[in-house]
Amino acid sequence: MIEYDETNRVFHLHNGLVSYALGVAPGGYLTHLYFGRAVRHYHGTGREHHMSTSFSPLPAGQGDDVFGLNDLPLEYPGSGFGDYRVPAHEVAQPDGTAVTDLRYQSHRITAGKPALPGLPATYATGDLDAETLTVVLADPVNGTEAALAYTIFRDRAVITRSVVVTNRDARPKVIRKAASASLDFTAPGFELIHLSGSYAKERHLVRERLTQEIRILDSKRGASSHYQNPTFALVAPGTTEHTGVAYGFGLVYSGNHECVIEQNDRQQVRVMAGINPAGFAWNLAPGASFQTPEVILTYTDQGLNGLSATWHRLINDRLIRGRYRHHDRPIVINNWEATYFDFDEAKILAIVAAAKRLGVEAFVLDDGWFGHRDDDRSSLGDWVTHAQKLPAGLAHLSQVIHQQGMKFGLWFEPEMISEDSELFAAHPDYRLAIPGRAGSAGRHQFTLDFSREDVRQAVLDQMCAVLDHTQVDFIKWDMNRNMSEVFSATLPAHAQGEVAHRYMLGLYDMLERLTTRYPEILFEGCSGGGGRFDLGMLAYTPQIWTSDDTDAVARLKIQYGTSLFYPLSTISAHVSAVPNHQFQRVTSMALRGAVASSGVLGYELDATKLTESEQAAVREQIAFYQTHRRLLQYGRLTRLLSPFDGGDTAWQISDDRGLEAVVVYARPLAEEAPAVIRLRLFGLDANRDYAVLGQRVGGDELMGEGLLVPLPLSQDYAGVQVYLKAVTDDDE
Ligand code: DGJ
Repeated sequence: MIEYDETNRVFHLHNGLVSYALGVAPGGYLTHLYFGRAVRHYHGTGREHHMSTSFSPLPAGQGDDVFGLNDLPLEYPGSGFGDYRVPAHEVAQPDGTAVTDLRYQSHRITAGKPALPGLPATYATGDLDAETLTVVLADPVNGTEAALAYTIFRDRAVITRSVVVTNRDARPKVIRKAASASLDFTAPGFELIHLSGSYAKERHLVRERLTQEIRILDSKRGASSHYQNPTFALVAPGTTEHTGVAYGFGLVYSGNHECVIEQNDRQQVRVMAGINPAGFAWNLAPGASFQTPEVILTYTDQGLNGLSATWHRLINDRLIRGRYRHHDRPIVINNWEATYFDFDEAKILAIVAAAKRLGVEAFVLDDGWFGHRDDDRSSLGDWVTHAQKLPAGLAHLSQVIHQQGMKFGLWFEPEMISEDSELFAAHPDYRLAIPGRAGSAGRHQFTLDFSREDVRQAVLDQMCAVLDHTQVDFIKWDMNRNMSEVFSATLPAHAQGEVAHRYMLGLYDMLERLTTRYPEILFEGCSGGGGRFDLGMLAYTPQIWTSDDTDAVARLKIQYGTSLFYPLSTISAHVSAVPNHQFQRVTSMALRGAVASSGVLGYELDATKLTESEQAAVREQIAFYQTHRRLLQYGRLTRLLSPFDGGDTAWQISDDRGLEAVVVYARPLAEEAPAVIRLRLFGLDANRDYAVLGQRVGGDELMGEGLLVPLPLSQDYAGVQVYLKAVTDDDE
């Protein structure tokens, strides 16, 4: 999979699906040569295009090989030597300089894919599954070394990259920036697609044409954030959902991130992703190393659906770990929107009993079961049962729920502390805070300093005390504010620039310990909805609560955008009550069911308050979901109509062979003289017939003429879910 052409000094990573080529230019500069459609042998024509540009100096000692760094496509660019684009790294030296001149030093090619110490990453299942190239770059003048790791998987159009920066001399250094990957490629007229949004409006898909500019997609919130997801795509002009070239990029990290897309005067595009350098300063003692997070890069010429297929497979197969990898996810009911903080055991058990009758499989007890938490002002940090609400105890509640044949889940917000808590009274220094300053609360709470082992241990001990004595099958791990006053009480002044990243390492350590100790528990990530829906969290929490916005119409955009990178198995989606608690909208049960079933279905309502007809509808939804769970959680998603185009939304979820599918069609607003909807389907078997809506229709017809969608015409918030299956001889 990885070849090195010693004569031309070219590395070629290829697997029949994708090629990635890089080379060592005269002077030892590591240059980007090619990333895209697989080629058999890389002959290196791309190498001839470098030339010097006016007003950009030439690197010293070049001889006849005249090129300027400012237009040389580089793999890990610095600054200070004539490249004026955004640098990938910056290492401050004791002499006051902060420029590093990295040149090729050595390389090695190894089987498999090494783990990234302390950080989540994709993994190989064995030595044959992937191959890794490590190119070591070094600056002998200031003793900085950067080892760039590139992995190619055997059967995926995926390259992963990460970097280890090492201090190779006796002088201490400070890393101010170390991107995980950077590459410069030719992308004339390319468009950028990114997932931006807000609380309750996560991952809306934005598509914009690049011009000569620098675009920064970032978060400085201490979380990947509701606002800007650390994934994005670059697409060729004209790329649609179904056709065209699309590159995908994603950072496997849950904290402060920075993704840079810079188009220069010659329509070359520099793409970079890594830890956000804002506020970041990592001390590198002599001999010490720093590991960056991983960046995933993908290529397809099959449009955005092709991009998604690559990411969905990769995340399901090579990022999600443990028992729930490829495993069915239960249908839960969560009491948050049903009760908020106002519940007791009787109320909970009534919901459980009603939900059980509908076919729900697990009950998740949300916020408010601990300390004296009756609203959001207290008790975070005190993970002991709320004695007034649950006098018989949590273990008892769990036992009764299990006796009814349901699983039991529990909400935690482990990273937070309320000022009104025993933990705060005993350890006021456990939060992130600047000495002498009052500290900014968010939702009346502060962030615990997870960079500290003792703080993590204090929370872990409490969680284990609960989990060791209560049968818990599911944990919803929430996080309801972003960081501020990022200062750790125990670190010296010069190390305060490390806190935000140390926090993330601490968070991952805590999640690793818990998921290892309790392998049977399914963890669901959450951050005020989808404020930390990212690749880093998915390595520990196989599914994530997508948004606090449970309105089915709003969810169309949120789930459509989320699905660009994230598979259905990760998208936790609940049917909630009407009027909806966020928008007061009264949407049809059909629409709510169809949208929530396109992912990991659950319920977010008081099951005791459903009318007879609602109960019947929910029973039907659940029975349908249980029958087709595999398809709906792990099927191949094909987006058909985008809610971002202003009209109806449609998608199709099929099995790998295209022998069965569920089609979802949503029309938020009815209109006069609506168009007849014939929805062209994709990926079916043209030579087979399908049973659909009581008829027999050819796969070729469904993909050609299309499916006549049976939508109620004069109704707002209409939605349908249509199941189709290839007819077998037994059906004749
Ligand atoms: C935010 C979550 O997204 C909600 O689902 C709920 O768990 C609340 N927090 C509880 O405080």
